[in-house]
Formats: sequence, structure tokens, C-alpha cells
Amino acid sequence: MHTIDYLPVRHSETVLAELMIPSYANFGGKIHGGLILSLMDKVAYVCATKHASAYCVTASIDTVDFKQSVEVGELVTLMASVNYVGYSSMVVGIRVISENVKQHSVKHTNTSYFTMVAIDDEHKPLKVPGLLLENQEQLRRFVEGKRRKELKIQHKQLVNQVLSTSQSGFNKSILNDERCKLGPDVL
Ligand SMILES: CC(C)(COP(=O)(O)OP(=O)(O)OC[C@H]1O[C@@H](n2cnc3c(N)ncnc32)[C@H](O)[C@@H]1OP(=O)(O)O)[C@@H](O)C(=O)NCCC(=O)NCCS
Repeated sequence: MHTIDYLPVRHSETVLAELMIPSYANFGGKIHGGLILSLMDKVAYVCATKHASAYCVTASIDTVDFKQSVEVGELVTLMASVNYVGYSSMVVGIRVISENVKQHSVKHTNTSYFTMVAIDDEHKPLKVPGLLLENQEQLRRFVEGKRRKELKIQHKQLVNQVLSTSQSGFNKSILNDERCKLGPDVL
């Protein structure tokens, strides 16, 4: 059980930087998306664990859109901070940039949100300290985190509702404009 009620965002802010070496490249010569995801998971883990002072697991990852590819030789930097906390969960916002160290040019490759959950020795969710919000940006991120959480719950409910309706049968006309063809066994 934590004795600290609230911790400032700066307490757990974490930066991770890694040089993109040739063995990280895919067949197209660009850096593997999975490598970037792995680095994001690492920085989220460190950030959440610092805030919680407890072991944390990744519960969910929001959409990750790769805006620009990362090249071999670039320096990838991931900046993570706790944006929102619930009881045992923390939303860690991660901004990823990639720098061409020869040309000193920097590009924003992606931003995503990882939900991390603090757990105890019996793998039970553990209460984490609240967040002390010290500026307008931290306040905005906290409110956005709360809204994202609510929207995720609504989205999940809507998907379940739509899929359960389609399980009870659907009109094949919904496939009219789709690029599929029905084989003899599904006609
Ligand atoms: C994450 C985990 C501990 C949650 O356990 P649980 O029994 O579902 O616990 P609860 O339902 O009490 O949820 C605990 C918290 O996690 C949050 N949570 C659980 N699943 C979530 C999800 N998919 N997305 C976002 N938050 C989630 C809940 O909202 C709750 O938050 P709160 O305490 O701040 O209100 C459990 O699902 C787990 O261990 N998952 C595997 C994690 C893992 O191995 N990750 C690495 C993948 S390789």
C-alpha cells in the first residue's frame, strides 16, 4: 500500500534513446515497426513503474499510426509521461521522434498511449498514487486521458453490440461494394 497520495508528472517522466543499427532493418531497408513498438513498451514500463513504485504490466495499447518511416543510422528518442491515473491503471503518453544525426533534422514518427496496470505479488491490481498536475498541459492531458478511457469503453460496447447483431444474420448486400467473391460453399 502506498503512503504517497500524489506524485508530480515529472517524478516519472522518462526518456529513452536508441541508435538504429542495420540489424534493426526490415527487408525494405527501413526500421521494423515491431522494434519501435518494443521500445515504446519498455519506456512505458519504466515510466509507469517509477510512478507506481511497483511492478506494472501492459494492459492495452492505443492505435499506433506510423506517420513516417525510420531509417538506419537515425537516433530514435521516446519521451514518456503519465497522463492519467485511475485506481491501479496509468495511461502513459509516448511521443517518438527520430533524428538524422548527420543532418540534425528531426521528425515526429508517432505518438501513442499505453495503459499500464500496477500489480502486487499475487498479480492483483494495486492502488497507485494520484497525479499532481502542475501546468495547463498536464491538466489538458489528464482530461484527454479520462475522455479517451470513456470513449474506449463506449467503443467496446458498440463493437460488441454490432457484432452480436451480425452474428444473428446479415444481408449479403453489404458486400456489394467490397472486393470479395463468395465461393460455392458460402453462396
Ligand atoms: C491488466 C490486468 C492485470 C488487469 O487485470 P483485471 O483482473 O482485468 O483487473 P481489473 O478488471 O480490476 O482492472 C484493473 C485495472 O486495469 C484496467 N484495465 C484492465 N484491462 C484494460 C484494458 N484492456 N484497457 C485499459 N485498461 C484496462 C481497468 O480499467 C482497471 O483500471 P483502474 O484500476 O484504474 O480502475 C490483467 O488483465 C493482466 O494481467 N493482463 C495481462 C498483462 C500482460 O501480461 N501484458 C503483457 C502482454 S505480453
